[in-house]
Amino acid sequence: MAHVFVSRRLPGSALDRLSAVHDVDVWPEPGPAPAAEFRARAADAEGLLSMLTDRIDAELIDSCPRLRAIANYAVGYDNIDVAAASARGIPVGNTPDVLTDATADLTFTLLLAAARNLPSAIETVIRGEWGPWEPARYLGYDVHGASLGIIGLGRIGQAVARRAEGFDMTVRHTGRRGGVSLATLLASSDFVSLHCPLTPETYHLIDAAALAQMRHTAILINTARGPIVDQAALTQALHAGTIAGAALDVTDPEPLPKDDPLLSAPGVIVAPHIGSATHRARERMADLAVDNLLAALDGRPMPHQVGREP
Ligand code: NDP
Ligand code: DGY
Repeated sequence: MAHVFVSRRLPGSALDRLSAVHDVDVWPEPGPAPAAEFRARAADAEGLLSMLTDRIDAELIDSCPRLRAIANYAVGYDNIDVAAASARGIPVGNTPDVLTDATADLTFTLLLAAARNLPSAIETVIRGEWGPWEPARYLGYDVHGASLGIIGLGRIGQAVARRAEGFDMTVRHTGRRGGVSLATLLASSDFVSLHCPLTPETYHLIDAAALAQMRHTAILINTARGPIVDQAALTQALHAGTIAGAALDVTDPEPLPKDDPLLSAPGVIVAPHIGSATHRARERMADLAVDNLLAALDGRPMPHQVGREP
């Protein structure tokens, strides 16, 4: 029986399977554990089930001498120093596939909502400002027949591309192993959607220069990670009319403070990182994270180990 620290309560019954064979300590509060508390609880752990909001850096890993498995409750693992874990022989697991469709659905929800100014139009109804029908009020952009540029044609990028087919969109992508150049994609897309991981290479990939290459009528969608976009440059680009809008599920930082200048930029929609937030996806993510821990603590390869091909 190994000691496992789970940094947040999880939906579904996956943790029961873990508790049946291991000594499990689940952080009981709704928010994340304060850093000192996290460190104290992780110090003796052989297994760690972490959230994307937990920073698992080399120092934290060093402070857990018995640690032999890390299972992240996310497909993205930019919060973990995988090299530091690997140097100690600690496998790191993630939760791919089970959240792909939920995240692609949310991406399309944001794309459609931004194209048709849905949140601000609904807001006028709530405020009692729904006046007589007007020929030129509430105008947005067509989604059907438009061009979509996907940055990172992986699991979620491909699922978004499949949805775009139903809207008769022209889809292009850019990636490290193919597609068009980033410059071509930015210049030729009505919608640009980010689906690459956050890495040193993709940090601020969408900066002022990239935004300047986009169409004035274009809309940027980000359901990947906030720091892929230079948010100050985006705020400026929205004010300047360099692009028409941005629909973001992820920001830098998260949560975004209420007075962040981005929130008052024209044409912006911000959702609170809910890409995978369906009952089914979040329960299946818990199942995969637990499967990863059970395997590694039993000396078997994780079913979804980062940095290792299946
Ligand atoms: P995948 O690994 O399947 O896809 C990522 C894609 O990005 C791959 O095709 C990869 O291709 C490509 N890529 C990597 N580096 C670059 C680069 N420098 N430029 C362009 N493309 C690049 O991951 P998923 O589709 O499952 O998830 C993608 C990301 O979405 C996650 O890392 C996570 O951050 C985010 N996410 C956010 C969610 C939310 O709640 N908003 C929910 C789920 C995921 P190659 O390696 O061949 O270059
Ligand atoms: C992930 O899995 O990377 C998301 O950001 C949350 O589900």
